Amino acid sequence: MNRCTLLPFLFGLAFTFSCAHPSGPFIAEEIKLPADPDGPDGYTPLDGYEAMEIPADNPLTPMSATLGKELYFDTRLSGDGSRSCYSCHVCEKGLTDGLPTAIGAYEKKLSRSSPTLWNIGFHSEFYWDGRATSLEGQAAAAWKGGNMGASDAQAIVDYLNSLPGYREQFEVVFGEPATTDNVPKALASYMRTIIGGNTAWDRWMAGDESAMSESAQRGFEVFKEARCTLCHVGVLMTDQQFHNVGIGMDAAEPDVGRYKVTGLEKNMGAFKTPTLRDISKSAPYFHNGSVATLEEAVQLMLAGGLPNPHLDAFLKPAEISEQQFADLMAFLRSLDEPCDGTAPPLP
Ligand code: HEC
Ligand code: HEC
Repeated sequence: MNRCTLLPFLFGLAFTFSCAHPSGPFIAEEIKLPADPDGPDGYTPLDGYEAMEIPADNPLTPMSATLGKELYFDTRLSGDGSRSCYSCHVCEKGLTDGLPTAIGAYEKKLSRSSPTLWNIGFHSEFYWDGRATSLEGQAAAAWKGGNMGASDAQAIVDYLNSLPGYREQFEVVFGEPATTDNVPKALASYMRTIIGGNTAWDRWMAGDESAMSESAQRGFEVFKEARCTLCHVGVLMTDQQFHNVGIGMDAAEPDVGRYKVTGLEKNMGAFKTPTLRDISKSAPYFHNGSVATLEEAVQLMLAGGLPNPHLDAFLKPAEISEQQFADLMAFLRSLDEPCDGTAPPLP
């Protein structure tokens, strides 16, 4: 039976009702990993693809991912108790939030659109501009910064340690109570289990001819012929590089993107190529959410991006017929991922 507890919230400002927490000893629903991270082949959650790199100081185990998933879904991690990591990366919106630009804790307006997180553990640079170079660093920044607004992360950690269910799990995973350092580690472990590889396209690539319609199969050919695969390449559907497509460059003060990280002129207005997995669900599109529908986003890319002095040289206009456009859309819809956004029981 569930017991409703009234938690005096951290800063005494608000009270939150928490009804999801079972009474009695807390039992976590352990995540099963598709491959053994310590085995000879390493962690290979994507069939036939290279092993994911796991940092030596944050080993991935079923229990670390399980703890991370609880934290990822827990609104008590945010400064004002309003949102969890999952709030902006939801299944129904292709692991984004469906807003043009995100709104963080304390209703803080953020400048960019929430990106999808499919296969994020295979990336080596994070955010639209790649400014974070580890998933642990990214998770810490998302938690303590504007997204989650946990500027007093220590107070939140103290609160987590007051809950026996969390305290015990941190002891099991890290051999210590929750700290501002190991919370992002657990979040990163969970994110390494957000694996996208179960689309109709994946099944078709694995040899199941019936998995994709003939239109979608033709669309895959169009996708390659129109040179989309120069950037949206391979099983990850991204080259993990940064390109200027021209989005937002006509603004009075454009978002300079990757340039802010490298200071290199060629990176002016360049952003990380997003994966196209689950793309049909993640409208609106691009780093500033400026394009409402997938059809318009694809038209824009087919036109070779938006003209500006820093436009990527890879982008060239591609003329295709109406039938080819329909086929291309059918292909992109075959990249829909099955997704389960059920929150785990929380301590
Ligand atoms: C208010 C909405 C919001 C919340 C809450 C939120 N995020 Fe995000 N997330 C974003 C936005 C917006 C970006 C892109 C920011 C940028 O590129 O500057 C992002 C980027 C990311 C990325 C990088 C993706 C990539 O392609 O490089 C990861 C990973 C991520 N978030 C994980 C998390 C985690 C973990 C939490 C909880 C600690 C979290 N997010 C909470 C909106 C949110
Ligand atoms: C030069 C590399 C490059 C090529 C070629 C390219 N793209 Fe992209 N694509 C990107 C980048 C980078 C972005 C993100 C740009 C931004 O938000 O500023 C993007 C964004 C998108 C988006 C929106 C994704 C989202 O999550 O918002 C779609 C859809 C898309 N591309 C489809 C295509 C299609 C279809 C083609 C082929 C006609 C194509 N792209 C060719 C680099 C490329």
